[in-house]
Amino acid sequence: MRVFQLTDTHFFANESGRLLGVDTAKSFADVYGMLKSEYGTPDFYLFTGDLSQDETTESYRRLADSVGKANAPCYFLPGNHDQRQNLKTGLLASPTSFCNERGFINSGWQIILLDSLVEGKVGGYLANDELKFLEETLAKKADHVLICVHHHLLPCGSKWTDKIGISNSDAFFDIVDRHDNVRCVLSGHIHQAFDAVRGNVRYLATPSTGVQFKPNSDTFAVDAQPPGFRILNLEADGSVKTSVHRLTNLPEGLQLLSAGY
Ligand SMILES: [Fe+2]
Ligand SMILES: [Fe+2]
Repeated sequence: MRVFQLTDTHFFANESGRLLGVDTAKSFADVYGMLKSEYGTPDFYLFTGDLSQDETTESYRRLADSVGKANAPCYFLPGNHDQRQNLKTGLLASPTSFCNERGFINSGWQIILLDSLVEGKVGGYLANDELKFLEETLAKKADHVLICVHHHLLPCGSKWTDKIGISNSDAFFDIVDRHDNVRCVLSGHIHQAFDAVRGNVRYLATPSTGVQFKPNSDTFAVDAQPPGFRILNLEADGSVKTSVHRLTNLPEGLQLLSAGY
């Protein structure tokens, strides 16, 4: 089974909206165009949060318009820059390629989408309902499980981003450690490629379709890397083959010396 992950699109309601100098809608369109023309059709797409920068329904409509009639279903979850109701209203308005599902099975793999958004906060937290949903879904004992959640669970070595991960990660690990079918946890949020293992579980994060954050930086810093996406091949034996791909060029207008956003 082949999955395409697109993350941290940070769309604006207005065409003039820019994130650190970048037209995030144009950057997304470039990435999505490359993905479709060079990599074909996945079984489904995953949009792993921070889909808007201004939390407006219109920003999500613009994203849905840009995706258009996709060649596979598009699943999504919220990030810290999202607003739950507007996210659903904007993405699910007809006609759309987006699906409002939090858990589904495809080719023997259980896919779980978690919501780590805390309104008004940059960091993430898994509420009791989310942990309960995780536990109950894992108890169904699918052969292999992919968990998707916006905020990262493992430290990535960058002081400022590691303060804004999931504050109750212990509760998450406690559940995951009691199940032997979790193969991979997939995140966005840190706007960089990340690949590490904890126990028997692989933890991945992925470049944004817009602006990148510099790895191993103590403070906020923009990285001079082009926008990108991730392809995951979820194999029948539970292994995960994955690769990150990027555009050739930096996005036009990128403010490399920004001190924050
Ligand atoms: Fe983001
Ligand atoms: Fe985020």
